[in-house]
Amino acid sequence: MSSYDVVDLIRAKRDGRRLGPDEIDWLIAAYTAGEVAEEQMAAMAMAIVFRGLDAAELTRWTEAMIDTGERMSFAGLNRPVVDKHSTGGVGDMITLPLAPIVAACGAAVPQLSGRGLGHTGGTLDKLEAIPGWSPDVEPGDLIRLLDEVGAVICAPGPGLAPADRKLYALRDVTGTVESIPLIASSIMSKKIAEGTPALVLDVKTGSGAFMRQREQAVELARTMVGLGRRSGVATVALVTSMAMPLGRAAGNAVEVAQAVEVLNGRGPSDVVELTLALAREMLTLAGLDADPAEALASGRALQTWRAMIRGQGGDPDAALPRARHQRVIEAPRDGFLTRLDALAVGVAAWRLGAGRARKEDPVQAAAGVLWHAGVGERVRAGQPLFTLLTDTPERFDRAAQALEGGWSVGDEPGEPQPLLLERIAG
Ligand code: URA
Repeated sequence: MSSYDVVDLIRAKRDGRRLGPDEIDWLIAAYTAGEVAEEQMAAMAMAIVFRGLDAAELTRWTEAMIDTGERMSFAGLNRPVVDKHSTGGVGDMITLPLAPIVAACGAAVPQLSGRGLGHTGGTLDKLEAIPGWSPDVEPGDLIRLLDEVGAVICAPGPGLAPADRKLYALRDVTGTVESIPLIASSIMSKKIAEGTPALVLDVKTGSGAFMRQREQAVELARTMVGLGRRSGVATVALVTSMAMPLGRAAGNAVEVAQAVEVLNGRGPSDVVELTLALAREMLTLAGLDADPAEALASGRALQTWRAMIRGQGGDPDAALPRARHQRVIEAPRDGFLTRLDALAVGVAAWRLGAGRARKEDPVQAAAGVLWHAGVGERVRAGQPLFTLLTDTPERFDRAAQALEGGWSVGDEPGEPQPLLLERIAG
C-alpha cells in the first residue's frame, strides 16, 4: 500500500478536496495500526464534520474500516438472516421483543448490540438485568443458537471493524460524533462486516435522538441505505419519532419487564406498533411470508424469547432486580398530559444510575423512570405521574431537576403525533 503524509491529507480535507481511494485505505489502516496519532485523526474527523465525504469517499471509507477486521458469514444457516439497527433513543427496547418475534416467524436474527452511553440506553445493559444472562457468545454457539432458536443478542467480538471501535471512542471525546458520513460509516461498517444480507434501520429523530431535525435523520437514513445497497446488503430505513420517549419505562430492568409485557400481548401501543412495523420490514427483506402479529398473539414469540434468554445462560422466570428507593412525582392538576420530552426523561433515567457517563462506568440494573400516562392521556390531580427508581437516593434531586420543564399538563389532549415518519428503501 502507498504511504502518505497524514498532514497533507488533513489539509486537503480541511480545504475541501476529496480524498482518493488509496489515501483513504492508507489513512484508516495506519490509524488502526497506531501510525497516525489520535490528534491527527481528531483533526481529520473535524475536517470531515465541516466538509463531509461524497458517496465514493464514504463507500471507500466504510470498506476500509471493514477491512481492518474480520468479515463474518452466516452462509451455512438454514434460516434467512436479517438484522435491525436503531440509532438509539429513550425507552427504545424494541430489539428485545422484535428479535424473538422475527425469529418465531422463521428468520435468523443475529443482533450484535452495544452498551448505552449518555442518555440513551444500551441493549446489552438492559438484558444484563436478567439473572444469569451473558452477552458473550462463542462463534460456534452463535451459529447453533441462530439455527435452533433463531435469535441471539450479543456483544460483537473485538475483530469486528476495529477501526470503528477506535475512531468512535475518539469522536466521542472530540465533538465529532455529529457528522452524517461518520455516523453512517460507523454503523454500516459493523453491519456489513457482520455479514447480514438484509438490514432494517430505525433512524430516530427528535429531542431524544442523535438527529434532532427530521431532515438530518432522513439524510442519514438515505446515506445508510445507499451504503447498504452499494455493499450488497438489502437495506430499508424507517425514520421514526423520538420527540417523546417510547413506551412507559426508561432504564434497564424496567425496559426488560416492558418487553415481556409486549410478548405477553399487553405492552404500550406505541411499542407494539413500532415493533410490528419493523418486523414486517424484516420479514419482507428475508423473503418470509409470515404475520408477526400472529406470532405475538399466539405466544410463539414469547416461547422464542424464553429460549433466547436460556440459550445465553439467563433465567426467563427469575425476578428482575427491584430498586431500593423510589420517589413519586404527582400530577399537579386534572387535565391531559400534553407533552413529554424524550431527552428530559432520558437524562433523568441516566442520573438515577441507569446509564453511564464513561464507558467503564457500571450501570444500576434497577434504576430508571416510569411514566404512568402517555401524551394525550387524561390525568387527575394527585395521581402518580412519574416514579423515579434508584439504589442511591442522593440521585433523586438531580433526576427530578432533569424532568422539570420536560412535561406539561393542559386542558386539551392535543393532536396525536405520528410515530412512523418516513420509509426509505434502496
Ligand atoms: N452509533 C454508532 O455505532 N456510531 C455512531 O457514529 C453513532 C451511533
